[in-house]
Amino acid sequence: MPKSNERDRYLAIIEAMGEGVLLISRKHRITLSNRSACSMLSWVSPLKGKHIEEVFSSSILPATIDTVFRTGRKEELKITSYLSSSGADAVIKGKGREKIYKFSITLLDDKYAVVTITDETMMERMSVVRQDFVSNVSHELKTPLTAITGFAETLMDENLSAEETKSFARIIHKNSTQMQRIISDLLLLTSLDREEIAPAMENTTDTKILSEVRAYTQFRAEAKSIAVSYSPEGFSLICSESLIVQALINLVVNAISYSPQGSSVSISSRKKGDRAEFKVSDRGFGISEDDLPRIFERFYRVDKARSRESGGTGLGLSIVRHIAIIHKGTIKAESRLGEGSEFTLSIPLR
Ligand SMILES: Nc1ncnc2c1ncn2[C@@H]1O[C@H](COP(=O)(O)OP(=O)(O)O)[C@@H](O)[C@H]1O
Ligand SMILES: [Mg+2]
Repeated sequence: MPKSNERDRYLAIIEAMGEGVLLISRKHRITLSNRSACSMLSWVSPLKGKHIEEVFSSSILPATIDTVFRTGRKEELKITSYLSSSGADAVIKGKGREKIYKFSITLLDDKYAVVTITDETMMERMSVVRQDFVSNVSHELKTPLTAITGFAETLMDENLSAEETKSFARIIHKNSTQMQRIISDLLLLTSLDREEIAPAMENTTDTKILSEVRAYTQFRAEAKSIAVSYSPEGFSLICSESLIVQALINLVVNAISYSPQGSSVSISSRKKGDRAEFKVSDRGFGISEDDLPRIFERFYRVDKARSRESGGTGLGLSIVRHIAIIHKGTIKAESRLGEGSEFTLSIPLR
């Protein structure tokens, strides 16, 4: 037996652990539990003295514990539980937030087994997000690639007129440009993920930022006879200038793409308290209430055909959101179907 102050120290360490720890007897009685175990199982009263059957509605855990006592081998299992919002003694049953826990059961001696519980909810969710992302990327690249392959095959036919040859080459060019755009947006998103830790900040002004955005988008606006008004207030700020310019270009390109010929777009910036606020508004097609909460998701488009027609990748707004987050800022969208949209990017001046 360890000395009493040594024992207290061990207990304090167990109590402080992020993993849930339960010591369980052969008869399924909990003889020790730490704070993490109680909170993971949303159990308010002490777990000590309870039988695991009282705590878990699932019979898998007791059965696995028996196996561990019988074989002496470590066992692992994953349990999906629904935490009740009341937090009362109602574990792993009923409705509520879904949680995924990993239970590892190890034999301590012939009387006790140790159960450690880790919350794997985030990891599981991230792996689902990653799988979805890979399948989305593959799908997005497959569409233009299929067109390229098909038209290249047709081009190999020697009986084509010069006119036909040209038109097929044009389609191939358009689709490969689309693939290039998707890939460069994806690379940008990946580099933003990395930059999240330490973006390179510099001193600049809103006037300079807006004039760069103008230079990049002028051609597009003219092509659609859209009048774009620029109204910088004139102030200094510290930010990643190139990223803020990129975010605003994405917003302005959207405003132009999703507005009819001859419409108008306005971009303004002002100092609001200790924040810089950039607004891009249009009088275009607008976004419905149902779609609005989803437009910042990767690859989400309201109208796929319209987006593709304007050279969209479905990644523009998720890039904007990323850039806002990197600057500890926010991006907000307001819109009415058929009336227009307004996007507000707000970042701290420093
Ligand atoms: N100013 C806007 N007006 C109307 N719809 C917009 C506007 N900006 C974005 N959207 C909608 O949000 C979707 C996602 O935008 P974005 O991420 O930039 O992708 P995309 O490449 O399709 O432009 C667009 O496909 C469009 O349906
Ligand atoms: Mg876009």
